[in-house]
Amino acid sequence: MRNLFHFDELDLYVWEGKADVLDRIARCMASFDVEVIRADGIPLPQDRSSTRVALAIISVTVIDGGGLPLASEVVQGMPVIWVAAATRERDSRNYPPEYLHILPFDFTCAELRTLVTKLVQQIRANGAKPEKPDVLVANSECMQALLAEVAAFADCDHNVLVHGETGVGKERIAQQLHAGHGQYGKGPFVAVNCGAIPDGLFESLFFGHAKGSFTGAVHAHKGYFEQATGGTLFLDEIGDLPRYQQVKLLRVLEDNTVTRLGSTVAIKLDFRLVAATNRDLRDLVQQEEFRSDLFYRLAVIELHVPTLEERGAIDKIAIFKAIMTSVMGTQPPPNPPDLPYWLTDAIADMYFPGNVRQLRNLAERVGVIVRQTGTWDQPLIQRALSLARSSTPTPESMAADGSARKNWNAGERNRIIAALEASEWKRQETAQYLGISRKVLWEKMRKYQIVDGEPGIPEAS
Ligand SMILES: Nc1ncnc2c1ncn2[C@@H]1O[C@H](COP(=O)(O)OP(=O)(O)OP(=O)(O)O)[C@@H](O)[C@H]1O
Ligand SMILES: [Mg+2]
Repeated sequence: MRNLFHFDELDLYVWEGKADVLDRIARCMASFDVEVIRADGIPLPQDRSSTRVALAIISVTVIDGGGLPLASEVVQGMPVIWVAAATRERDSRNYPPEYLHILPFDFTCAELRTLVTKLVQQIRANGAKPEKPDVLVANSECMQALLAEVAAFADCDHNVLVHGETGVGKERIAQQLHAGHGQYGKGPFVAVNCGAIPDGLFESLFFGHAKGSFTGAVHAHKGYFEQATGGTLFLDEIGDLPRYQQVKLLRVLEDNTVTRLGSTVAIKLDFRLVAATNRDLRDLVQQEEFRSDLFYRLAVIELHVPTLEERGAIDKIAIFKAIMTSVMGTQPPPNPPDLPYWLTDAIADMYFPGNVRQLRNLAERVGVIVRQTGTWDQPLIQRALSLARSSTPTPESMAADGSARKNWNAGERNRIIAALEASEWKRQETAQYLGISRKVLWEKMRKYQIVDGEPGIPEAS
């Protein structure tokens, strides 16, 4: 049941299945002179004036009913107040962390009004509607466990290192850590790709520079460290930072101050540091490509983001549906609205070395087909699936492609092949030798496309 309140310059959308909660919201907002408009079954207005402030109140039970993507789509980027399921001792893992405003089910009028007023003030102060939050799908057990770790470590000041294969959502996890920090979560989130710092520009980009400090320095410029003040500095692809830049970074972190080029004033660092990598930093430390002192400084807390294969069909299909829903927008769903079995089977069986990013691309392509045709057009969708399968790199093509090779865990693949060869391809023995279960071995062989008896590829250098 959806209801729509009007009040002054505020549109308050309420999406709540329980009549008593609805009544309570209506009563609490009565003194705000809110006009209640029943909006059951009618589409929410698309032409909302951009100058009007809009806010939504949604019950978390819509998440349990699989309605989160739908609800997020309907509210179209409005800030959302979630009414939590039952108790005040709630388990925050059950709620999407990007929605920070949660009211307990037994909220008081004062709590509701305070939250509404605070959000309205925030929106007016920003002069803009906040960005539409992206849905973070995490239905699998391993993702639930990761989100529990994120919730546990978000509000502390220790440095965090996030690792996981390419496209698994490391940056999304870094954003969750940022959003969950009581103090720094309110500040900026400054993301820096450490694999793309041009030679000779490290100091200028990270430290900033004073006006006139070099030819062309017309204005003073804040470096990344200063830009992140009061927020989170996210150092992405940290494993790609060359050694000579690693030492500069380490020095600043040890001093806890930074000095702009051409200045003598030391500025104290004040941010939360999160780094991410798709490379095995411990391996890099052993190969002396990564400084061990910097590694230990960054990896006070380590979080591992599982691959899409590890998450399994439950997440593959949920992510696919969430993306489809957002591509469909306000278009009526096809008939029947649920994904046909041949499509869910195909997605569940497909291997995505590019992880969530690759799955997103496929879901967007299929979403466009369904939106344009209004049906689950099997021939067109099968074409999109075949295309995605044929563009999936094989180990050989990745080994031949230097840029992609770093993303391919060739080391692990070769270790598995060596163990298989040593045991004459007996899986039980191999699994025992590697200290993993037969099921995990089978999954890894599938993931790395290891066919019985094939020779290993050379170790990545
Ligand atoms: N759990 C999730 N649910 C829905 N979308 C997700 C999820 N995780 C990641 N995504 C989406 O997948 C894409 C890749 O995520 P992200 O950039 O965080 O991955 P990454 O691990 O940092 O990738 P890379 O290794 O290439 O830097 C983004 O579009 C992101 O919004
Ligand atoms: Mg990334």
